[in-house]
Amino acid sequence: MRIMRAAFASRFDADNPLAALTVGDRPEPAHPDDDWVTVQVRASSLNHHDLWSLRGVGLADGQLPMILGCDAVGTDPDGNEVVVYPVLPTPGDPRGVSILSEHYQGTLAERVAVPRMNLLPLPTGLSATDAACLPTAWLTAWRMLTTRGRVADGESVLVQGAGGGVATAAVALGVALGKRVYATSRDAGKRERIAALGATAVEPGARLPERVDVVIETIGAATFDHSLKSAAPLARIVVAGATSGHLPAVNLRRVFAMQLEILGTSMGTPDELTELLAFCAEHEVRPVVDSVVPFSRVADAFARLHSGGVFGKVVVDHTA
Ligand SMILES: NC(=O)c1ccc[n+]([C@@H]2O[C@H](COP(=O)([O-])OP(=O)(O)OC[C@H]3O[C@@H](n4cnc5c(N)ncnc54)[C@H](OP(=O)(O)O)[C@@H]3O)[C@@H](O)[C@H]2O)c1
Repeated sequence: MRIMRAAFASRFDADNPLAALTVGDRPEPAHPDDDWVTVQVRASSLNHHDLWSLRGVGLADGQLPMILGCDAVGTDPDGNEVVVYPVLPTPGDPRGVSILSEHYQGTLAERVAVPRMNLLPLPTGLSATDAACLPTAWLTAWRMLTTRGRVADGESVLVQGAGGGVATAAVALGVALGKRVYATSRDAGKRERIAALGATAVEPGARLPERVDVVIETIGAATFDHSLKSAAPLARIVVAGATSGHLPAVNLRRVFAMQLEILGTSMGTPDELTELLAFCAEHEVRPVVDSVVPFSRVADAFARLHSGGVFGKVVVDHTA
């Protein structure tokens, strides 16, 4: 059995997720089936999902230890540079699928095992560290804007809590798609950086110059009422997360009077990831990267994400 370095959940800590993180040796993951391959990971990125896992959300004691990480770019056994699509068919899971680091060991390691069909070619022109931002947060934002949000020509978008990985992706992609994008952030410095991406940045809860057609919600309780109030008639409020709490009060009068759609979404399809990779390569859209941290300092990367101060993605360089 080959041993490799990895960052994994060794226990759960609901209050202090960083205390549940272990960086050390783990066995290289086995192949549950013949069509699985092992990818040598070159770059990965962190998601809030990794902090939820350390808190024990979505994982049970019997699944520990679990290598964290959903995103990876690396080299397949034939030497091809590949992007790993992180959603796997998972019989027994009520969703029918799971994301790497839930039922199957994740990407924050020297190597990760996945079905061969989960490998997509790394497009020319995209670096490994940039592409490592795309399979989870950016894919989620892409599907929120397009397939679920159905954002059309001339329409506008509101992104809540714009410092986060999904949120900065939604801002950058919304602007690249030619939409009018508004974004809230609690932090004045982040609002300046959002404005530099081409969006109109406002304080949380502020009245917008217009009602919007699509709302990108990953914050939940802290922002949901503002999302409802900011929505134009027939708007789509697309929900992919609830970082501040999943039980907001919902004013149903506004939902029916304005004929709003509240749509849940999770990740995206392999075709959507292929579209996103092509869109970024062709339109020279590059992920908003907060920091690139060498794997030798992966615990610092988790601390950075946990601090709430991030603007964009925290990337891990596995070659360093
Ligand atoms: N369903 C899916 O497929 C999917 C995929 C990816 C992520 N998610 C979910 O989406 C959420 C965001 O993920 P992420 O990786 O983008 O997270 P992240 O990068 O950690 O997002 C942090 C951002 O959340 C905002 N925020 C946090 N607490 C807040 C509060 N109390 N009030 C207002 N804003 C607050 C902050 O924005 P400001 O500092 O700018 O205010 C912060 O920059 C997570 O809950 C995650 O689980 C879901």
